Amino acid sequence: MRLDVITIFPEYLAPLRLSLVGRAADRGLLDIRVHDLRAWTHDRHHTVDDTPYGGGPGMVMKPEPWGEALDEILADTPADTPADPDADDGGAGSRGPVLVVPTPSGRPFGQEVAAELADRSHLIFTPARYEGIDRRVVEEYAERAEVRELSIGDYVLAGGEAPVLVMVEAVVRLLPGVLGNAESHRDDSFAAGSMAHLLEGPVYTKPPVWRGREVPQVLLGGHHGHIARWRRDHALRRTAEHRPDLLRAAPPESWDPGDRRF
Ligand code: ADE
Repeated sequence: MRLDVITIFPEYLAPLRLSLVGRAADRGLLDIRVHDLRAWTHDRHHTVDDTPYGGGPGMVMKPEPWGEALDEILADTPADTPADPDADDGGAGSRGPVLVVPTPSGRPFGQEVAAELADRSHLIFTPARYEGIDRRVVEEYAERAEVRELSIGDYVLAGGEAPVLVMVEAVVRLLPGVLGNAESHRDDSFAAGSMAHLLEGPVYTKPPVWRGREVPQVLLGGHHGHIARWRRDHALRRTAEHRPDLLRAAPPESWDPGDRRF
């Protein structure tokens, strides 16, 4: 997968070289390119913002540097992944690069969107500062690529760089070969699977007693059925406490006959 990030704070993206994402890049599973937006300015001050038309506080990012940056990166997009006959895209034709625009006014970014993005071969992130990017940039590139305006939550950050770190990590850990154990995200909170719609419950490791606190007996017993039941009960309880909305939204077929209602 190729990832481009265009930003006025390239150093903010340094964590992409660390940990899971950095290792995936080192192993050749990812080609990450972080670009300084100011490289596409032509004035002495490398200006990227200007006052908003119509008045109001703050500044708006000028369209010209974004336009030049995106033209150059889109011209250099890798050859498309071969059309996947099983892909839910009606066949070939809709699989080019995806322009991901982080903004608090975007659609919610969640596990499902992460999985959709993980299925693509080229993502281009355009984290903005100030009051956002001149609207014409999204309009222009919506004609040439798939554009997804995404919000990571109902709060306003100072810029889109932290959301890029969040989204990239959520996407990259879904790529084949990135996690050690291919199964290890199957039961994640929010993943599709037997525990879909449930938050993960508590986990334990050695020692069996710590400061007088014991690991629940059932987990030490090795009875897989009992352990699975215990885990599901605790996932249900935790979901009822922290995210009752998820339980209300769970389709009837996701309930197990043995499920208790918390
Ligand atoms: N930029 C500022 N706040 C944001 C948010 N919550 N999600 C995505 N991008 C943002």
